[in-house]
Amino acid sequence: MFEATHLHKRFGYHVVLEDVSMSFAQGRLTGIMGPNGAGKTTCFNLLTGRYRPDRGRIRFEGRDITALPPRAIARLGISRSFQVMNLFDDYSALDNVLIATPEVRERGFSVWRRFGGSTDVLESVGLAGKAHVRAKDLSYGDRRALEIGVALAARPRLLFLDEPTAGLGTEATARIARLIAELKRSITIVLIEHDMKFLFGLADHIYVMHWGQVIAQGSPAELRANPWVQRSNLGHAVN
Ligand SMILES: Nc1ncnc2c1ncn2[C@@H]1O[C@H](COP(=O)(O)OP(=O)(O)OP(=O)(O)O)[C@@H](O)[C@H]1O
Ligand SMILES: [Mg+2]
Repeated sequence: MFEATHLHKRFGYHVVLEDVSMSFAQGRLTGIMGPNGAGKTTCFNLLTGRYRPDRGRIRFEGRDITALPPRAIARLGISRSFQVMNLFDDYSALDNVLIATPEVRERGFSVWRRFGGSTDVLESVGLAGKAHVRAKDLSYGDRRALEIGVALAARPRLLFLDEPTAGLGTEATARIARLIAELKRSITIVLIEHDMKFLFGLADHIYVMHWGQVIAQGSPAELRANPWVQRSNLGHAVN
């Protein structure tokens, strides 16, 4: 469904991605893991058009999207959430989803009440009863769920999630895991995640990044058996 080949990216003299290739199969959940600064978020920024790669190609459903701006990529059915919280705090949960809905963005806020689909989105992320609560008055777990709702507003076929469980405790993490498992039934998902238990429980395929490169990839079972993963502290987390 989605394929990136030989991506390179540097900022000044700092090489951040070196020859990264990844592909995401339709209907599958792909994980990306790796230590801080490995280049995971930069990867998302390239794949969703926020930055242009210095070299390499990105294809979605057979079409070259390498040079397309974020908005054009979003219009093709690709959506993302951000590692750093990206909500309008003074707006209700419902309005946060509405603002992210393409019809509302294109035709203006005056039409937004007509889009009943947004309540379905809220329901799908477990916020049905909290449509009119301001984002800032939601619990942290609800806020992270709402961010996923905002990413779902455009009804994407491919969804990129950047550390959706960051800052969450065990129970709130389990809730997001259930939510993502449910979304996986209808959407192709790519997930950056530090919580290995969470990731290995959900992913069909995982890429391990380090120093801007993909150093290992495979199914959770293959990665558990991978000597590099076993030697690193990642092995401890997944076994
Ligand atoms: N816009 C930018 N300008 C300069 N350097 C950048 C920029 N964006 C990222 N970097 C650098 O690229 C490297 C990779 O950053 P990136 O955010 O992709 O890592 P990450 O794997 O997402 O890490 P984390 O797990 O901490 O989120 C870091 O050294 C970072 O400082
Ligand atoms: Mg990151």
